[in-house]
Amino acid sequence: MITENMLSALRSDIENKMSQKRYRHTAEVEKMAARLGELYAPEKIMTLRAAALLHDITKEYSTERQIMICAQKGLEVTKEDVCAPKTFHARTAAALIPELYPEFAEDDIISAVRWHTTGRRDMSICEKLVYLADYIDMSRTFEDCVRLREYFFSKEPEKMTEAERLAHLNDTLIMSFDMTVKGLIEDGTVVSADTFEARNWLISEK
Ligand SMILES: [Fe+2]
Ligand SMILES: [Fe+2]
Repeated sequence: MITENMLSALRSDIENKMSQKRYRHTAEVEKMAARLGELYAPEKIMTLRAAALLHDITKEYSTERQIMICAQKGLEVTKEDVCAPKTFHARTAAALIPELYPEFAEDDIISAVRWHTTGRRDMSICEKLVYLADYIDMSRTFEDCVRLREYFFSKEPEKMTEAERLAHLNDTLIMSFDMTVKGLIEDGTVVSADTFEARNWLISEK
């Protein structure tokens, strides 16, 4: 069971290992994950907060270091991965949790960290909520993030029925995938197949 003390210890540990800017974002993702957890999975709030704290622990590692960790952990590295170095950190962070933070090595936490950047088909509720918390945390000022945050909260999900609220979460995720894909295409860079699959899956489930 995850306790407040465990989360406090984790928070101080990661704060010492990342830049102030990354830590500020991480702390805001934790808050947003808890806020979303209240709406969608109150029984998973501690899990969501732990995953939020862990989601970017390797974000500031160099691409070389990411590739080295992948090699150590037996994770395949393709040319496409190298073209999208930003997606490495989700895989390496997830792979390092059992070694660095065995007390947090729960399936829900590891998979939420693993899929927080690209999403995937059949996302679990924890995966969806950490993904969204990372996109719309209060420290984000990028136009797409602000727009998505406003869209999500302006519809007052707290007043919806359970089914409406879940549909609203899925619509918000579809919108985020659309914005991500458009942005990557504008940048002329690769789009993860997992992101397309996540988007197509949510649309086909409507
Ligand atoms: Fe990330
Ligand atoms: Fe992040």
